[in-house]
Amino acid sequence: MALLELKNVTKRFGGVVAMDALSFSVEPGQIYGIIGPNGAGKTTAFNCITSIYTPEEGEIIWKGKNITGKHPCDIAGLGIVRTFQNIRLFGKMSVAENIVSGRHQKSKQKWYQGLLNTPFFKKDEYDNWMKVREIMEFLNLMKYAKTPTNSLPYGIQRRVEIGRALATEPELLILDEPAAGLNDNETLELVELIFKIRDMGITVLLIEHDMDMVMQLVDYITVINFGKKISEGTPDFIQNDPVVIEAYLGSDDEEDE
Ligand SMILES: Nc1ncnc2c1ncn2[C@@H]1O[C@H](COP(=O)(O)OP(=O)(O)O)[C@@H](O)[C@H]1O
Ligand SMILES: [Mg+2]
Repeated sequence: MALLELKNVTKRFGGVVAMDALSFSVEPGQIYGIIGPNGAGKTTAFNCITSIYTPEEGEIIWKGKNITGKHPCDIAGLGIVRTFQNIRLFGKMSVAENIVSGRHQKSKQKWYQGLLNTPFFKKDEYDNWMKVREIMEFLNLMKYAKTPTNSLPYGIQRRVEIGRALATEPELLILDEPAAGLNDNETLELVELIFKIRDMGITVLLIEHDMDMVMQLVDYITVINFGKKISEGTPDFIQNDPVVIEAYLGSDDEEDE
């Protein structure tokens, strides 16, 4: 069974059809890429999967269950988590605090247990910080644990954002242009990191503009243009598909960057 499946999902904004009957399916353990020119509807697809938007038509299926229109707060609980095209962190808070905030999305405790400082609360907090420590070690962030994130280089902020996502213990990690703004070295490190995350058993779905990066990283690709799927296949297939080449040459995408 597919882990995630989109079936004919359509999302409109006024007269703009941002996603036009889009279908694709992600298998467990894959690194799956979504590519397409600017404005193709890639981020909208992610916003529909994470329930920030509810599509007008179609279904989003998670492990065989229809999750279309669920409350966005329930999505992390299902095991789906995402990062944003523009990094969103609590800038004045430390790396450790940002990562633990991912834990709180997942925490089992009731609000009053914090007030009463019950043993359950203390145990839960302890578990949270142990998990945060493990994640910071995994991401090589220990030396920045107490540093406010807004004083860190972009590449490290990106890792913190991924750390916060991992803190929810996801089954599916969704990354919206994770290499945007990174230099070549940071991009290489990110590729290594995504492979390691996949090897931990987490399925990865990503949008990426950096073609070299996509082609070396992903198992399978869906290409969209004007909200519609125009091609899908392995990186080898996609790189040689005339339809894809045409879509990229025909757009002024490169000049927008
Ligand atoms: N909240 C919104 N309101 C109105 N139009 C939107 C909104 N979000 C996206 N769009 C439009 O939907 C289309 C697809 O946008 P987007 O999904 O951000 O593209 P991509 O991520 O592929 O660059 C664009 O035409 C964009 O202007
Ligand atoms: Mg986008």
